[in-house]
Amino acid sequence: MEAVERRPFYLYSKPQITRNVEAYKEALEGLNSIIGYAIKANNNFLILQHLKNLGCGAVLVSGNELRLAIRAGFDPTRCIFNGNGKLLDDLVLAAQEGVFVNIDSEFDLDNIVSAARIAGKKVNVLLRINPDVDPQVHPYVATGNKNSKFGIRNEKLQWFLDAVKSYPDELKLVGAHCHLGSTITKVDIFRDAASIMVKFIDEIRAQGFDINYLNIGGGLGIDYYHTGTVLPTPRDLIDTVRELVLSRNLNLIIEPGRSLIANTCCLVNRVTGVKTNGTKNFIVIDGSMAELIRPSLYDSYQHIELVSPPSPDSAVSTFDVVGPVCESADFLGKDRDLPSPASGSGLVVHDAGAYCMSMASTYNLKMRPPEYWVDEDGSVAKIRHGETFEDHMRYFEGL
Ligand code: LLP
Repeated sequence: MEAVERRPFYLYSKPQITRNVEAYKEALEGLNSIIGYAIKANNNFLILQHLKNLGCGAVLVSGNELRLAIRAGFDPTRCIFNGNGKLLDDLVLAAQEGVFVNIDSEFDLDNIVSAARIAGKKVNVLLRINPDVDPQVHPYVATGNKNSKFGIRNEKLQWFLDAVKSYPDELKLVGAHCHLGSTITKVDIFRDAASIMVKFIDEIRAQGFDINYLNIGGGLGIDYYHTGTVLPTPRDLIDTVRELVLSRNLNLIIEPGRSLIANTCCLVNRVTGVKTNGTKNFIVIDGSMAELIRPSLYDSYQHIELVSPPSPDSAVSTFDVVGPVCESADFLGKDRDLPSPASGSGLVVHDAGAYCMSMASTYNLKMRPPEYWVDEDGSVAKIRHGETFEDHMRYFEGL
């Protein structure tokens, strides 16, 4: 397949996706729960169908993600619609389909009420609360602190409870939600947040609300560095909140994205050439920030390897691995110790399953790459066509 693709492509392991889901399912044994896969992490349609078949629900942040989830066959009553700027039309669809909706603000509550009226359906809502626990992650992926753009102002909790009470035909409060951030590597952070959340739930129940869902969001990190550091597993995460959930007889909703899909994939690239400028050595590849933007956007590390390791005696140098896009932000890795690769050889960027293809762009008219997966028996299948120049020109047809 590498021989036939003359462009970068994503390559997934289907069995690894299955194993990641199984790890969560085993961790959740003994609890009533929903694993809501965060579609934003990766929206490949075949991957979604696979996750649905494994029993996942879905976490959505737009009307189109909701449409996709429905087409992929997800049970809408195991789906959660999140977001600080949900649009009325999308909320109407959510209300019609019967998905859980998180209340994020005063205006969001108004829109959910309007959507319920338009759809003629009562909406099951959760209140998105900010536990204000520091997730200790890059500021761009921290969300659960009190200055974040997400969630309600906790001091106004009573206002929200009164508002919900005043719309008994439109809203049914069923739970509380929080999402602290992404790439979290310490489970204490989840436990601290869950303790705060159950106190809120106690307070809400004390007012006569029959709420039964605690949604602790997503956020578990993965071992991007490949240094052998032992990171918390789904079991560690669930075990740290298990007693709290059981003590209040709650259903637990979790919203993992990265920890289900990131480590199942790599971006396969081809080396165009090697060059040196000033004190810097560069490996120039055909992949770029257009296919995979995380290093450029968050300065994040994703492990890089050559596909065919050269002979053991080849000299290793320190390289920046860069793409052909016309700006210096276009790098996949900095200061990587690698043998000097021959032009045309393969180079992979690991852990590219989450927030890579779903954040790909067509910058510099590098069209979005194809995707493949490998199955248990070693067979490889294409699971998404690569975008073409003709696809691009179609946007202008008939104008
Ligand atoms: N639930 C909510 C409300 C979220 O905002 C997110 C992710 C998730 C669940 C899933 O979180 P996960 O388990 O994947 O950490 N583009 C960034 C990550 C942005 C995450 C946004 N929210 C990256 O490439 O690292």
